[in-house]
Amino acid sequence: MTEDAAARQFRGGVPDDYERRMVPLMFQPYADDMVARAVARHPAAVLELAAGTGVVTRGLAAALPPESTLAATDLNPGMLAVAEARGAARPARSSDVVWRTADALDLPFDEGSVDLVVCQFGVMFFPDRPAAHAQVRRVLRPGGTYLFSAWDSIAANAIALAVDEAYRRVLPDAPPNVITRVAHGYHDPDAIRRDAEAGGLVVDAVEGVELIGAADSAEAAAAAIPRGTPMRAELEPLGDETRDRIEAITADLLRQRFGTGPIRTPIRAFVVTAHR
Ligand SMILES: C[S@@+](CC[C@H](N)C(=O)[O-])C[C@H]1O[C@@H](n2cnc3c(N)ncnc32)[C@H](O)[C@@H]1O
Repeated sequence: MTEDAAARQFRGGVPDDYERRMVPLMFQPYADDMVARAVARHPAAVLELAAGTGVVTRGLAAALPPESTLAATDLNPGMLAVAEARGAARPARSSDVVWRTADALDLPFDEGSVDLVVCQFGVMFFPDRPAAHAQVRRVLRPGGTYLFSAWDSIAANAIALAVDEAYRRVLPDAPPNVITRVAHGYHDPDAIRRDAEAGGLVVDAVEGVELIGAADSAEAAAAAIPRGTPMRAELEPLGDETRDRIEAITADLLRQRFGTGPIRTPIRAFVVTAHR
């Protein structure tokens, strides 16, 4: 599955399972970190790209001062529908979050209109990353900041690694799955830096950030990726039985590695700070 095809699979049953299973497992910890980085810059106008079901948006809405503005965008209306349904509480006297379906490669915002752009775990799905970065550069005011993140390889992310091992055991002849190829396929810090510079941005830092992924059980961790990501579209034509076998093997692998109780494992990503 290509980046573009994967990007379009955050739909159907994925948004609900993404919010319920993936967000607490591995996205909330990075959202907390991203919000702290964003708020420390005291932006007046914030734009979020690939906001998904709104885990970063909720944090920003609660932490930004009332006089700031916040627009949250995503390619897939189904993801934003879950985000909007959960709501995002803003401090008193502030305007509401503006939710808007938008492709990061074609941003419907004016040149120089934003102080800060945030994009958590979206860039891996952009088919042309320098072009997407050029869009960010255009909408940022001179000196404005872009914060974005991308997962490190599956070797540094034990839950994704276990899912991939199980997938390859059950489907030995299948091509590399979307998690290996796309979600965890953009992890060369030099390439990340080069793409941002090719889009006209100045890169301040590409940091490896290790946090903790957590789930109540191996079963809960094992079910998240097959149901709450574009892997769902790869598995659906093969039937529930195939998905269930992959989840059972994944849960066994996680129990062998992390024990039979709740799962706690290091997860690793790159967080990039750049500016116009
Ligand atoms: C892994 S999710 C991350 C969502 C959210 N930022 C979070 O941290 O939970 C990736 C998101 O990227 C969105 N996406 C993929 N390609 C996109 C594009 N070209 N423009 C805007 N959003 C895109 C998907 O719809 C999906 O919501």
